[in-house]
Amino acid sequence: MKILILPDPAAAVARCVEIIAQTLTDNPQTVLGLATGGTMEPVYERLVERARAGEIALDEMTSFNLDEYVGLPPEHPQSYHTYMAERLFGPLGLDPARTHLPRGDAEDPAAEAARYDAAIAQAGGIDLQLLGIGGNGHIGFNEPSSSLASPTRVKTLTLATREANARFFGPDETVPRFAITMGIATILRSRHAVLLATGAKKAAAVAAMAEGPLSARCPASALQMHPRATIVLDTEAAADLELRQYYETVHPKGQEVPLG
Ligand code: F6R
Repeated sequence: MKILILPDPAAAVARCVEIIAQTLTDNPQTVLGLATGGTMEPVYERLVERARAGEIALDEMTSFNLDEYVGLPPEHPQSYHTYMAERLFGPLGLDPARTHLPRGDAEDPAAEAARYDAAIAQAGGIDLQLLGIGGNGHIGFNEPSSSLASPTRVKTLTLATREANARFFGPDETVPRFAITMGIATILRSRHAVLLATGAKKAAAVAAMAEGPLSARCPASALQMHPRATIVLDTEAAADLELRQYYETVHPKGQEVPLG
């Protein structure tokens, strides 16, 4: 794992955006794996700004989002389809045929999950997978106890996740109980995984991911098995890392240091 520790959340977001921008510059037809949630909001804001400034182009990329709530149709205000449409796809006028999310309203969610994995494979696999992390160590919606070899499938959300995500729903709405999520095996097949975590609430999960045992107790620890995982943190999210000083020596302020 490459662990990059940036001085504050804005710097961590900028570093993450830089990695995405470089990937798109190297290959405009990149297949991107995308995440939702609060952590990603400033990432999409910055991507839209940079695309509008002509610094990057996203119109040739293909994307696959990590997850969608079961039972929510794409047009539901709290669906991840809507989240992505409002924050990235709509503002940049991207071709909907290139942007994919699982259909939460599919008649047979299990079949939809299998179809989604096949569609990712058909597209040639994911080049760059963007990830956030739950306070309980989930990636995508792979909650603790998820098989580390899981394909895309339906998962039951934990109460902690439903409570954490209640902030996106109205007072009279309930957070769905189930989601279709890319599996951990699907995530591990990506050619590069970039996980962004900011804030003190993520510190324990980040430490378990990077330095804890490889365990379904912390699904993100599966990234220890990823051949190319980059973890981008602010100092608060990095606070519980025992080897923090080492990571800061290898990548001072989260930057690459030339060998030699
Ligand atoms: C959402 C997803 C989740 C979030 C995680 C962190 O697509 O994959 O794993 O990344 O729950 O969410 P925030 O950023 O809201 O703390």
